[in-house]
Amino acid sequence: MVNIINCFMKIETKNLTKNYIIPKSPDVKILKGIDLLIKSGEKVALMGPSGAGKSTLVHVLGLMDKPTSGQVLIDDVDITSFSKAKLAKIRHESIGFVFQFHYLLADFSVLENVLIPVWNNKKKKKEYALEMLKIMGLENRINHMPNELSGGEQQRVALARALINNPKILFADEPTGNLDRQTGEKIENLMFEICSRLKTTLLVVTHSQDLANLADRQIKIIDGQIK
Ligand SMILES: Nc1ncnc2c1ncn2[C@@H]1O[C@H](COP(=O)(O)OP(=O)(O)OP(=O)(O)O)[C@@H](O)[C@H]1O
Ligand SMILES: [Mg+2]
Repeated sequence: MVNIINCFMKIETKNLTKNYIIPKSPDVKILKGIDLLIKSGEKVALMGPSGAGKSTLVHVLGLMDKPTSGQVLIDDVDITSFSKAKLAKIRHESIGFVFQFHYLLADFSVLENVLIPVWNNKKKKKEYALEMLKIMGLENRINHMPNELSGGEQQRVALARALINNPKILFADEPTGNLDRQTGEKIENLMFEICSRLKTTLLVVTHSQDLANLADRQIKIIDGQIK
């Protein structure tokens, strides 16, 4: 199963901007003309100071938010004007997310949490979920509830959940920002290893130079621009 090779996915932006509209105030300009190309299968680290626009960029690239202007191209197709439903379909089929906080559902077991994105197909996907949890070293925790897990274990469940649908691209926004250094490093290594194995394109936002060093390439964003 873990030998499944994803169809690669390339993601590109052209002169991308994002402004937030604040009532009775001038628009806040966050992204100021981002030109970015993440090649298929590439692992990229996105760095930069707090407030620079990293999470905003990830939300736009992950099709959770619309840009103010400019284009997002997926495999050379401009998806900027796609309907919400079409974007949701691409997101569901091709994109995985891991955030700083795990967002596991408290009333569902570890295994059920991993199966949430494929709930309609959960019987078929169960074996894959179990295998993914084994890779994460959680085979003895499948029936536990999230509050019975350590922070690192919770984040590994979130990683398994993000990968259950074989996304072509994984966005990880400070995925280990809440963890101690040693636990964080283990999970970071695991994430890179599994993305290499599955040929999943990876964009990871981080403040850690050690984590960024694992990537094929590092990008820095400062005040809404790539430097
Ligand atoms: N919904 C919003 N409305 C207005 N401003 C926003 C909104 N969301 C984010 N911002 C502003 O956009 C800027 C960039 O935020 P963003 O979350 O992208 O930063 P970041 O680079 O991810 O920072 P950090 O490293 O702290 O996570 C910040 O100044 C923030 O206050
Ligand atoms: Mg952020």
